[in-house]
Amino acid sequence: MSAQRAYTTSTLNGLDGERVSRSNNGPKAVWFFRALLLVPFVLMAPEVISALRGSSDGVANISASVADVLGTSTFLIFILMLAVTPVSTMTGWRWHTVLRRDYGIAMFAVAGTDLTLAAITTNDTFPGTVLTHIGGHSFLVAGTLSTLLLIPLVVTANQPAQRWLGRHWKAVQRLTYVVWGTILIHLFLLFGLSTIFLDAVAVSLPLVLLRLPVVRHWWTAARRKGSSRVLRAVAAFALVGIFGLGFVPLVQELAVKGSAAFVQKPARD
Ligand code: HEM
Repeated sequence: MSAQRAYTTSTLNGLDGERVSRSNNGPKAVWFFRALLLVPFVLMAPEVISALRGSSDGVANISASVADVLGTSTFLIFILMLAVTPVSTMTGWRWHTVLRRDYGIAMFAVAGTDLTLAAITTNDTFPGTVLTHIGGHSFLVAGTLSTLLLIPLVVTANQPAQRWLGRHWKAVQRLTYVVWGTILIHLFLLFGLSTIFLDAVAVSLPLVLLRLPVVRHWWTAARRKGSSRVLRAVAAFALVGIFGLGFVPLVQELAVKGSAAFVQKPARD
C-alpha cells in the first residue's frame, strides 16, 4: 500500500502512536467518556469566575486548588489515554480507540490551563516572578516540562503532520513515554515514595507490562485462538486489581479536592 493511500481513509492516530479507526456510529459510551473530559473545567469554573469578577479571595482559591484539581485531572486523563491500547490487547475491542486522540488533546488543554493558572495565581505559595511560579522548584520544573512536551505531541496528532513527518512521526509520538517519566518525577519530587506517587506507579505498572511486545503479542495471539483462557483471566484480574489500587485513590482525591474547589472552599495546605 502506498504511503499516500495509507493516510487517506478514516484513520487517525492517538498520542501514543497507534492507528485508530474512526466510526461515525460509535457507541454512546464514547460520548460518555468524552463528556467526562469537561469535569476538570466544571470543577474549576466557580473559582475562576469569582476571580474574574474581582472577588477578594478568588485568586487565592485558584492558587489552592489548581495543582490538586487540574494536576490530578491531567494525570487521570493521561492514564485513561494510555489504557486504550492495553484494553484493546486484552479484549479485542476497537470501539473505544477513537478516545485516544480525544484524551490526548484534552490532556493538553487541562495541563495548559493548569500551567497558565499556576503562572498567574500562585505568588502566595511560590513568591517571585512568573518564572518562579512555574519553575522555582525542581518539582515545578518537572510539571512545566511535562506540559510543554505535550505541545509537539498535540501539534502532530493529525494526518497532515503525519504525512509531513513521514518515518519521523513515530519518534515524535514516543515523547509520550518521556512525558510519562517526567510526570512520575514530578510526583516523586512532591510526594517521595508515598501516597500519590505510589498510586501513579500502581496505575502505570499494568499499562507498561501490557505494552511489552512479548506480552502484547502473546495475549493477542491467545485471545484470537481462544487459548490460555484461565491464565488470561487470572492475569487480567491481577492487572486490573493493581490498576484499581492506584486509580481509585486518585479519583477519590479528585472528588474531594474538586468538590472543595467547586464550592470555593479549598483546603489551604
Ligand atoms: C502534565 C502535567 C502535570 C501533571 C500530570 C501533574 C500531576 C499532578 C498531580 C497528580 C498532583 C497531585 C495533586 C494532589 O495532591 O491532589 C500534582 C501536584 C502538584 N503539581 Fe502537578 N501536574 C502537572 C503539571 C504541573 C504544573 C505545570 C505545575 C506548576 C507549574 C504543577 C504544580 C504542582 C504542585 C505545586 C503540586 C502540589 C499540590 C499540593 O499538594 O498542594 N504541576 N501534580
